[in-house]
Amino acid sequence: MKSNVKWQYNETVQVGTDYQDTSNVQAYDEQMAKFRDFKKESTDIINAICLEREHSLLEIGTGTGNFAIEAARYCNNVYAIDVSSTMIAYAKQKAQAMGISNVAFIQAGFLSYEHNGPSLDMIVSNLALHHLPDFWKMIALKRIYQLLKNGGTFYLGDVIFSFPIEEYNHKIDNWIDTMKEKMGINFAKEAEMHIKDEFSTFDWVIEEMLHKSGFKFDIRHKDDFFAVYYCKKN
Ligand SMILES: C[S@@+](CC[C@H](N)C(=O)[O-])C[C@H]1O[C@@H](n2cnc3c(N)ncnc32)[C@H](O)[C@@H]1O
Repeated sequence: MKSNVKWQYNETVQVGTDYQDTSNVQAYDEQMAKFRDFKKESTDIINAICLEREHSLLEIGTGTGNFAIEAARYCNNVYAIDVSSTMIAYAKQKAQAMGISNVAFIQAGFLSYEHNGPSLDMIVSNLALHHLPDFWKMIALKRIYQLLKNGGTFYLGDVIFSFPIEEYNHKIDNWIDTMKEKMGINFAKEAEMHIKDEFSTFDWVIEEMLHKSGFKFDIRHKDDFFAVYYCKKN
């Protein structure tokens, strides 16, 4: 991608939670570990994409590296990217501490990553695409399509809205209240910031973008605030 144009989106500027800040990164990992079963989440994705040892896999928006580290137990060639150098340093250190040496952690993003080597078999992105405004999501999805080999798989999970728009006030209030009850005030504040500052969008927008990027896809999960798409190139 041309990066010298004045109108190029600067994906390194953090929107919403600042994941360049070391204390936020540490807090993110600790909070997530309390409420998410990373092992199960990762093995569910690994099984869904039928990951094999000789595949090449790229994770975009790896965060603290939990998925990439688990995937590296099943596959030799794992690349894990994130725009936050703090996240990358944290994930790298975690992988080293766990004796995992086959993940290349690279500071890069949806719009800037350049892959050296043959096209990829698998790309996974979880809870990251919503950091880009819609126009740039479309550019990101086209780039993902180009990075994959024919027959390659893209697994996308994100906060995506599927509630009826007439109900948005009530649905968003309820979502934030549920976070507060189940996960505490910090999570509720994150959810508020997500709605206010980040770029989650409608399911029909994402689905049209996936079509326009060239993907065939199935919807593997959809509720009011979260969706998972299993996408194939050709
Ligand atoms: C909510 S965290 C999700 C991390 C991890 N995938 C997970 O499931 O826990 C979002 C991550 O996306 C990263 N991110 C934001 N914009 C990005 C971009 N344009 N390209 C790649 N990663 C990005 C952030 O730095 C952050 O680490």
